Amino acid sequence: MMTKNKINNLNITDPWENSILGPMNSRIVMSAMTRSAARNNVPTSEMAEYYSRRAKHGVGLIITESTATSSTADGFPNAPRIITESQITGWKKVTDAVHKAGGIIFCQLNHCGRISHTDYTDGQQPVSSTDQRAKGINKRNNQPYSKPKRLSQIELKDVINEFRTAASKCMLAGFDGVELHMAHGYLPDQFLDSRVNDRNDEYGGTIEGRCRFPLELASVILEELGENKVMVRISPSRWMGGAYDWPDLDEMLEYLLPSLDKAGLRMLDISCANANYFDTSGRVIRKARPLWPHLLLGGASLSKDDAQNEVNQGLVDLVTYGRLLISNPDLVEKFRAHANLDEYHPNMLDRLE
Ligand SMILES: Cc1cc2nc3c(=O)[nH]c(=O)nc-3n(C[C@H](O)[C@H](O)[C@H](O)COP(=O)(O)O)c2cc1C
Repeated sequence: MMTKNKINNLNITDPWENSILGPMNSRIVMSAMTRSAARNNVPTSEMAEYYSRRAKHGVGLIITESTATSSTADGFPNAPRIITESQITGWKKVTDAVHKAGGIIFCQLNHCGRISHTDYTDGQQPVSSTDQRAKGINKRNNQPYSKPKRLSQIELKDVINEFRTAASKCMLAGFDGVELHMAHGYLPDQFLDSRVNDRNDEYGGTIEGRCRFPLELASVILEELGENKVMVRISPSRWMGGAYDWPDLDEMLEYLLPSLDKAGLRMLDISCANANYFDTSGRVIRKARPLWPHLLLGGASLSKDDAQNEVNQGLVDLVTYGRLLISNPDLVEKFRAHANLDEYHPNMLDRLE
C-alpha cells in the first residue's frame, strides 16, 4: 500500500486497485459532509441522486455525511440515522444508486457527544467523556450546547454496542464499509483530547487512558465487519472555531496509530476540518506516515498538482475532497480535462445537487 520514500508518477484520476478496497475509479474520495437533507432522519431519493452523481463522475470512494448511531448520538437537524427499518431502507436506495453508478460507499458513523443539543437528541441529555458543557453557541439552533452527562463505564459499553448494531445495519443497507468519526470534537475525540477529557478513571488521564474508548470502539467494529470495511477518521490538527493541535500531538500519534494497527485497522483518514491542509493535516500526515504503513487518506481542497505530489511522495494513497465536490460533482472529469473548477459558495448548501 505504502509507496514511501519513492517518487512515483501516479495520476490521482486514474483507476487504482488495492487489496483493501479493491478496484476504484480514481484515488479521489468524497469527504463526509453533513447536508441536513434527510426527512425524519430517513435518507431521501434526492440524497441517492446527489451521491450517485459523484460516483458516476468518477469519485473512487464516497463517505456519507455523519450518520447517528442512536438518537442521543445525533446533533444536527434533519441528519440521517441508521437505527430504524425505514432508515435502513432509505440508505439502501442510496447505496444501490451509488453501486449502479460504479462507486464504493462507506457510511460515516458518528456520535456527537456533547457537541449537541436536546433539540436533536429527541429530548435526551447529550453524553460525553466529561460533564462540562462545550463552549460556544451551537450554530444549528443558536443555543448554548446542552450540558452533557458524563458516561459511566457501563454506559460506554452501551455506546459501543450501539455502534456495533449500527455497523451491522450498514451492511443490511448495502454499504461497502463504515467510517468511524473520531475527529472534529465529537464523542471519541472528547475522549482523545486532553483539554476535554477530565476523567480520573481508566478512560482518562494518561494517553493510554484517553485512547482506550476509541480503541475499544475500533476493535469491536473491526471484529464485527472485518478489516476491509472499517475506516477511522481523526483530526489531530484542525480548524474548528480556531486552529489547534492535540496538546500532546507527537506522543498521541506514536501511541494511537500503532494501537489502531494492532487492532487490525487498515484505513485511516486524517482530517483538518476546514483548515489549510499544509498548516494542519499535511503536517500531521508527515509525522503519521512512518507510523502507518496501510491505506492513508488526507486532503482539503488541494489543487490537482498538490494532490498528485502528496500521492507521488507516498504521503497519502487517496485524496479527500469536500467543498469542491459540492461545487463540482464532475470534479474528477474536470481534473482529467484540466478544466476550470467552479468555486464553492456556502449558499450551495441550500440545495442538494
Ligand atoms: C458543509 C460541510 C459539512 C461537513 N460535515 C462533515 C461531517 O459530517 N463529517 C465530517 O467528518 N466532516 C465534515 N465536514 C468536513 C469535511 O469532510 C472536510 O474535511 C472539510 O470540508 C475540508 O475539506 P475541503 O477543504 O475539501 O472541503 C464538513 C464540511 C462541510 C463544508
